[in-house]
Amino acid sequence: ETTIQSTAAFLKDKLPEHFQSVKLGIICGSGLGGLVDTIDQSSKVAFAYKDIPGFAVSTVAGHAGKLVFGFLGESNVPTVFMVGRFHFYEGHTLQHCTFPVRVMKLLGVESLIVTNACGSLNPEHKVGDIAVLNDHLSLPGMSGFSPLIGPNLDSFGPRFPAVSDAYTYNLRKIAFEAALEIGWSENDIREGVYAFVAGPSYETRAEARHLASMGADVVGMSTVPEVIVARHSGIKVLGLSLITNAVVVARGKDAKKEILLKLGKSKDIDTEIDTEKVIANHEEVLETSAKRAAQMQQLVKKIADLISSQ
Ligand code: 6GU
Repeated sequence: ETTIQSTAAFLKDKLPEHFQSVKLGIICGSGLGGLVDTIDQSSKVAFAYKDIPGFAVSTVAGHAGKLVFGFLGESNVPTVFMVGRFHFYEGHTLQHCTFPVRVMKLLGVESLIVTNACGSLNPEHKVGDIAVLNDHLSLPGMSGFSPLIGPNLDSFGPRFPAVSDAYTYNLRKIAFEAALEIGWSENDIREGVYAFVAGPSYETRAEARHLASMGADVVGMSTVPEVIVARHSGIKVLGLSLITNAVVVARGKDAKKEILLKLGKSKDIDTEIDTEKVIANHEEVLETSAKRAAQMQQLVKKIADLISSQ
């Protein structure tokens, strides 16, 4: 039988001495997995998810699946990377999606950087900006889908963990410090609330307005389950969201008004936007992440250096 413990033992058995304990974990979201191609290749150790007991296999284009151990940044921080993650919309349970986070805990991870691609609801944001998460709304969580449902794993954490401090303040400060140190303008790096939705369809306009009115700045289909499981076992979390597209919040065209106008029964001018030009799509998401991948990688490296120097 595969357990979190047996999978951790499976990996440790194959890992060299210097990766027996790794304090930093990174989950690489859409298009950000290139980070592992920039680290020292000779010392890197990689496992395909399909070869790791208990790991699911990710099925999304742009999300290759492997667990990589390597040295990151100028200070060669021993790091475990998930290149590609598991999503709820793929049909995995949230327990299955978050299994790797608990394995990371047993491998010694104390800080976890979670990255993702997201849509933005905040009109101040530009496509290509990065948002440092300071809180989240888990819509599946509020309706009965939490990775912590079921018997509590007491050896990892409490039955009722607090998540009011999910995104560690000190790590958020480090993220801003790192961004400014590598020369980003203050408008390239944002701070905000991430709404987790199950997907895989993008939001309707009404859903987008609903999320915005609830206090969400950005929206995506990942990250929050891993954050909850990490916080349950006391891992500190930094969430970085690359804004790949602006979410449509404006109402669509008004069919009734247009017909009344045509029949001469209304003098109103239709000022609504063209629905065809603003729909979210996966290609745009991948295109933006490809464009910003190098900068995002540079930021994460700087953050790793600042974390390890503390
Ligand atoms: Cl616009 N919505 C959601 N739910 N996830 C996304 C996204 C939008 N853009 C990237 N990921």
